[in-house]
Amino acid sequence: MKKPVRIAVTGAAGAISSSLLFRVASGEMFGTDQPVILQLIEVPQAMELLRGLAMELEDCALPLLHTIRIFDNPEAGFKNAHYAILIGARPRTAGMERIDLLTANAEIFERQGKALSANAARDVKVLVVGNPANTNALIASRNAPDLSPTQFTALTRLDHNRTKGMVANHLGVNAEEVRQVIIWGNHSSTQYPDLHQSKIFGEALVGHQLDENFYRETLIPRIQNRGSEIINARGHSSAASAAQAIIDHMRDWAMGTEENELVSMAIVSDGSYGIEKGIVYSFPVRCRYGRYQIVNGLEINEFSRKMMAASEAELLEEKASVNHLLPKDTEQSHYKLRICLRSGKFLAADGLLDSGDPVLETSRLL
Ligand code: NAD
Ligand code: LMR
Repeated sequence: MKKPVRIAVTGAAGAISSSLLFRVASGEMFGTDQPVILQLIEVPQAMELLRGLAMELEDCALPLLHTIRIFDNPEAGFKNAHYAILIGARPRTAGMERIDLLTANAEIFERQGKALSANAARDVKVLVVGNPANTNALIASRNAPDLSPTQFTALTRLDHNRTKGMVANHLGVNAEEVRQVIIWGNHSSTQYPDLHQSKIFGEALVGHQLDENFYRETLIPRIQNRGSEIINARGHSSAASAAQAIIDHMRDWAMGTEENELVSMAIVSDGSYGIEKGIVYSFPVRCRYGRYQIVNGLEINEFSRKMMAASEAELLEEKASVNHLLPKDTEQSHYKLRICLRSGKFLAADGLLDSGDPVLETSRLL
């Protein structure tokens, strides 16, 4: 059997985690031959609830669950973690926009960035789920001077999955037939679900099987506002579908994307597609060897360009509003990033390029 991996999860007693943890411990994230150590982190007042959840996990007698440990602080909870899933934050309730959460949640991610930098495994992979996820990921990354910005991502896979699901439903096909959808930008109502690269049974979608007006006027706003639609219906933000998206994001990052498919991940921009460097923006990526690479060279029409820019502008605004939480000494590493050299010469530089040496060099594009 493989050596266990350490997975730290914050907000571990919350709604998303309660859907997530049993599936992770069953092998749905990293495979049925990968034992896991769960390092579960909560605020002190939720420890009893977390203890109850840990007992339930124990009672499943899952063969892959090596150890469960519970923590009331991120410094101890992130110790030697190979994966960190940052869910813990105050969720949005009816009538609130994600931006309202910025002030409420920003300081959590400042502390957690520092704690990861000081305590996690050097190659830790971090996924931020707590909203506003993109800017929280930026705060965490900018507060982690000893890690690479490429180790920090935010969740837009839920939006990606929603897009596939809605298109499949509209056309009456299996969701797995809807390929190459892209979410650009922020996990918010400015996100841009781009179907111009998408194919069904190998055939282009927009303007063929999908009416362009329906796509622009009905489908895009529906996807952009799906989070609110769910909050209004359930009285709580999405939980089980968020857990599914977390599993998909982490599995693909660690184990690779499917052949001829791309996925959406919010990552620190390296300037690809003209998106300002140093913000956490959702791009189309492919993953191999535990790294991701932006899919470059896609044709962007005028409509797409406008939609992408609107979400970029929102992220720049969010960034400006948390500027006091972004230390100067990590600015350079976030601006000098090269996630994928356009020549395709490097698979993925690991971000901190001062030495000039990329960690992994290959002539293969993904
Ligand atoms: P929840 O309220 O059910 O659970 C959140 C948990 O986080 C609580 O148990 C709380 O005690 C804990 N927590 C709060 N601050 C913490 C901290 N500093 N350290 C550790 N734990 C902390 O909420 P939920 O439904 O699980 O949602 C969690 C977050 O995920 C929210 O911000 C929500 O908006 C966001 N979300 C994001 C996506 C996405 O796609 N990116 C989707 C759905 C929800
Ligand atoms: C979602 O997309 O379901 C959530 O991010 C909604 C929210 O704002 O919490």
